[in-house]
Amino acid sequence: MSTDTPTEETASFHADPYERKWIMFSLVLLAAFAVTVAVAGFALGFQVPGDETRVDPRTVADAPPWSQPGLRDLGNGEYEVYMLAQQYLFQPREIRVPAGSTVTFYVTSVDVQHGFKLQDTNINMQIVPGHVSKLTAEFDTPGEYPYICHEYCGVAHAAMFGSLIVEAGGDS
Ligand code: CUA
Repeated sequence: MSTDTPTEETASFHADPYERKWIMFSLVLLAAFAVTVAVAGFALGFQVPGDETRVDPRTVADAPPWSQPGLRDLGNGEYEVYMLAQQYLFQPREIRVPAGSTVTFYVTSVDVQHGFKLQDTNINMQIVPGHVSKLTAEFDTPGEYPYICHEYCGVAHAAMFGSLIVEAGGDS
């Protein structure tokens, strides 16, 4: 038993100076992450894929709108795409819109988990059976925007892709 009084020692926080620096560094990092998330969400408009609705993956393809996957023209340059992901293709495989369009994607899976990444946009979603993932992007620059499955879904995963084509000279 020690005769020293431990009270003063246990009352205050003691850490090795080196450890103390790392603790401070962690706190600064936490603050930096919080600022980054806030700027991305509020200033840059980053969107998290909305868990829009729940569907039954066994029957989702049997009824509208999923029984007719594809592009819908809403007018004023606004479009929606209802897309089905399945081993090993996207329906539709190709989408064409005029430049200046705003396209909202609703994507769901009929079997296993897939991914949906649309090149040159911030659209990057996980496609989980039973859930509808939703994101919107604007397409001002004509060209081809490939979309790929980036979640390993089976032997032919690498063959799962499609293409959004933005055509020049939209009449809007
Ligand atoms: Cu679908 Cu990988």
